Amino acid sequence: MRIAVYPGSFDPITNGHLDIIKRASRVYDKVIVGVLSNKSKTPLFTAKERVDMIGQVTGDIPNVEVDTFDGLLVDFAKSKGATVIVKGLRTVADFEYEFQMALLNKALNPEYETMFMMTNSKYSYISSSMVKELAGFHGDLTEFVPCDIIKRIEEKYN
Ligand code: PNS
Repeated sequence: MRIAVYPGSFDPITNGHLDIIKRASRVYDKVIVGVLSNKSKTPLFTAKERVDMIGQVTGDIPNVEVDTFDGLLVDFAKSKGATVIVKGLRTVADFEYEFQMALLNKALNPEYETMFMMTNSKYSYISSSMVKELAGFHGDLTEFVPCDIIKRIEEKYN
């Protein structure tokens, strides 16, 4: 069984993330979305809230699971029996950082392959930070995040 982990902060999950999850779920037998809970900068949503939102919008995809992790990504992948790390690439700016991370993870544990998926061009400019900025100005989030979670994001800014 081919198990992949798709790691990130998901603060909050965007349509770009969801697109990668759906596509990865067609390539791998199981996709485990790994929510990083210990990142130094304070997130808008707690790890539990982020897991709940991802669970809500991926509930109709049977081979997707969500969990948190707070150590090294390669250790999380190992604990889940995964052999692949899936990452989405939007721009050349993403590439520099992702290239470094992939090599670092390879150095830490050569058993894991990082597989990149090009973002759907519709979502190439969407990021969680941009969504938060827009939400802070009470902008319309419809295009950028799954509609089921729009209310939860707006509530944070009310
Ligand atoms: O959505 P993000 O914030 O870009 O995701 C970054 C993430 C979670 C993929 C990255 O920070 C990560 O893998 N963190 C776990 C710690 C780790 O394994 N770091 C690499 C070796 S030091």
